[in-house]
Amino acid sequence: MRSSAIVADPRKRWFQLQSELGGDEVIFDAPISELNTAPRPAGSGTTPPPASPTAPRPATRYAPGDEPAWLVGAPPIPGPGIAVRSPQADLGVASQEETLTAIAAAVAGCSRCPLGEGRTQTVPGEGDPAAGLMVIGEGPGEQEDLSGRPFVGRAGALLDKMLESIEAPRPTVFIANVVKCRPPRNRAPLPDERAACLPYLHRQIALIRPKVLLALGATAAEAMLGVKKPLGSLRLQVHSYDGIPLVVTYHPAALLRNPNWKRPAWDDVRIARQLLDLGE
Ligand code: URA
Repeated sequence: MRSSAIVADPRKRWFQLQSELGGDEVIFDAPISELNTAPRPAGSGTTPPPASPTAPRPATRYAPGDEPAWLVGAPPIPGPGIAVRSPQADLGVASQEETLTAIAAAVAGCSRCPLGEGRTQTVPGEGDPAAGLMVIGEGPGEQEDLSGRPFVGRAGALLDKMLESIEAPRPTVFIANVVKCRPPRNRAPLPDERAACLPYLHRQIALIRPKVLLALGATAAEAMLGVKKPLGSLRLQVHSYDGIPLVVTYHPAALLRNPNWKRPAWDDVRIARQLLDLGE
């Protein structure tokens, strides 16, 4: 990965993030001269061509020529995928009085599965309780287990960049995992472990009621949608979790291993970001 120190100039910062997220073809989606992120008067400026000039794009809040940089060349919002109902909605467990803090406290004392025996700290999740975007990962790794915070390792640094690039920086989102305790040697959580822990996630979603859910990787996608399918077959659809649009993309750890997936992941997060705009 080409990485360098964080730069202050917003235009340079944009190019740096694009470089780290997807390579030259992302940087050069439009001529550099047209990618001016400096503030422009409404209605002015140039409009770089969309990825497919024939693809329909829903109305956005942006005037032509004033689209944010992340929208330039973004794929249109795809059609519907799988629709699931939240078991929480059926059970009505998330009461008005329950809070995210109470859920975190319940997680801290949890012994519902063997993962609790090996944990240093539980990782209940964190972020804006009124977040429009909720990001769902697999489970804590070593750094997360030590700190009690989600996505603080290398994958987390990449996730932060992805979020920053779509102008949904980390403090504005809520990040949680399918399991709240670290699986040994970072293996994927087993079906029983997921099943034991998922009620916490369902309750978090029921309390936050985000506008958009972003599932990172196969574990999160399968847990949310209740299906076992290759990740690639779940991308490029807008699934529905209890009426909340849900987008599936690669896990940042997978992107670190396979940089070729950064470009499709960049498209996925831009789809999620467009849905966020539509929900506001
Ligand atoms: N990977 C995850 O899925 N979640 C984390 O919190 C960290 C790494």
